[in-house]
Amino acid sequence: MSLALATVAIAPAIEQEFAFSGADFERVRALIHQRAGINLLPGKQAMVYSRLSRRLRETGHSSFGAYLQWLESHPADTGEWQAFVNCLTTNLTSFFREDHHFVALADDLREREGRPLRIWCNAASTGEEPYSIAMTVVEALGASANVRILATDIDTHVLDSARRGVYEVGARGLSAERLKRHCLRGTGANAGAMRIRPELARLIEFKPFNLMSGVWSFGEPFDLVFCRNVMIYFDAATQRRVLERMHAAMRPGGLLYVGHSENFTDSRTLFRLRGKTIYERL
Ligand SMILES: C[S@@+](CC[C@H](N)C(=O)[O-])C[C@H]1O[C@@H](n2cnc3c(N)ncnc32)[C@H](O)[C@@H]1O
Repeated sequence: MSLALATVAIAPAIEQEFAFSGADFERVRALIHQRAGINLLPGKQAMVYSRLSRRLRETGHSSFGAYLQWLESHPADTGEWQAFVNCLTTNLTSFFREDHHFVALADDLREREGRPLRIWCNAASTGEEPYSIAMTVVEALGASANVRILATDIDTHVLDSARRGVYEVGARGLSAERLKRHCLRGTGANAGAMRIRPELARLIEFKPFNLMSGVWSFGEPFDLVFCRNVMIYFDAATQRRVLERMHAAMRPGGLLYVGHSENFTDSRTLFRLRGKTIYERL
């Protein structure tokens, strides 16, 4: 038996609850790549085991092999596939993450003031990022700004929590001043929690969207797009395909904000570097 197909040792000292072979891991890798474009690196077996074990328990399967066979018997658009994807996404985020982008965003918004604007945040996770965009809009242009924000993610579970807009007081990245201005503090049983004010939340529409989708129909082109810390999970060919579609979905002169470790200077026929991890759509 080759090393790749040997049973994966997750924690040798502890007996594993579910059988999980190297072949099962390779199958998970292939399936999540097909579905979400996510390029799971070799060496992520322990992560896959811990994230999918709960699903095996919930669906009454006793091994990864049995679960994966059952999963693949489901048609493509059923809930089990969504649950599988939800388990394997990485959703780390915070308010005003990479805060230089929000300083630049405030300037960009002021430059475009007076025109209706469409912003797309397309790996919105649990919502801290689109709410940070909405706060910046209100601070730069006022509460009656003609700005619409579309917030999407492939993971429906994180989108549900984004829609609720409830976070812990003391959430990373949110200043006391912003908390006071843009959030309502919970009292009694909700002490320690805060909710995004409805007048801010109404600027945002939350929807599921897979960047691997072949159908990108969003109507009016976007002026500003946040696509941060998601392309790092895609291989180069997938990144290029997504960038081409993103280009088609944006207005010329529109701005694309990307994560700190993402570099698309190779796609110079589509985007030109305009600032620190900010690209202009050509
Ligand atoms: C690490 S989080 C980044 C969140 C946020 N953009 C930020 O920078 O803080 C990556 C997000 O990308 C989403 N994602 C992964 N693959 C995706 C895909 N194919 N289409 C849309 N979203 C995807 C995940 O569900 C996750 O919420």
